[in-house]
Amino acid sequence: MRELERDSAATSPARLPRRIALVGRGRLGSALASALSAAGVDVVTFGRDLQARGPSPFDAVLLCVPDSAIADVAAAVRGWAPLIGHTSGATPLTDVDFGLHPLQTFTAGGGSFEGAGCAIGGATPEALACADALARCLGMRPFELADADRPAYHAAASIASNFLVTLEAAAEQVAASVGVDRELLAPLVRQTVENWVAMGPERALTGPVARGDDETVERQREAVEHAAPDLIPLWDELVDATRALSPVTRHPSPR
Ligand SMILES: NC(=O)c1ccc[n+]([C@@H]2O[C@H](COP(=O)([O-])OP(=O)(O)OC[C@H]3O[C@@H](n4cnc5c(N)ncnc54)[C@H](OP(=O)(O)O)[C@@H]3O)[C@@H](O)[C@H]2O)c1
Repeated sequence: MRELERDSAATSPARLPRRIALVGRGRLGSALASALSAAGVDVVTFGRDLQARGPSPFDAVLLCVPDSAIADVAAAVRGWAPLIGHTSGATPLTDVDFGLHPLQTFTAGGGSFEGAGCAIGGATPEALACADALARCLGMRPFELADADRPAYHAAASIASNFLVTLEAAAEQVAASVGVDRELLAPLVRQTVENWVAMGPERALTGPVARGDDETVERQREAVEHAAPDLIPLWDELVDATRALSPVTRHPSPR
């Protein structure tokens, strides 16, 4: 993947749409509407009320709807603007002109675009330039993503974000069994992520698996079995995967 040059002709602010129709007022749509408005873009938002569109034209339409709705909504808004884009990481550009996928997570409480990566694509140079300008006006770092690469890219994003939450929920469940709450785990999680970013996975890895301390790992497993037996298959997979990562213990589980 190629991060785009900051000063190329394609990234000219002149490519930034001045007036945008944004469809979908969910987690990403709400955050995008606020951030684009703050960046000086004139944003009109729509939910399922697409017929409420007034006569004034838009420079672009940005779809922030579930992936399964993209084809239908794109067909419904075709003719509203010269360029239609979606914000899905996994969906190809078949039904739209450009793609703009913030590599960031947005909840009902919002999220930050500043400094985030942003996968962009365009069916034409103009469409790509529009996506690029939108990403940059929000302080994101755009990089071009081919449709063929979308499934792997999106899987990586899911592992990095969604599965991390699943993992922390498992840690929380076991910690709760001995009265330790989420806030106490949080500094450990944050430092671990910072170490992984700074050093890479092998050097960031600490703990009994990395030290080859199988006795401690076995005692931990018994405790997990007692506190949350449903987590044992996940525990076993993670121990194996962690052993494979550690330079000290790159051998399969003795189980
Ligand atoms: N959330 C993130 O962290 C994130 C990050 C990057 C990219 N994205 C992308 O953003 C897109 C939206 O995700 P999201 O997390 O914001 O989902 P979401 O919170 O579920 O919001 C989706 C919104 O689309 C509306 N909608 C559904 N079908 C529609 C239709 N036929 N016409 C008009 N509006 C419709 C929903 O309205 P109702 O409430 O009426 O159903 C809802 O407001 C997805 O493509 C996703 O991949 C999300």
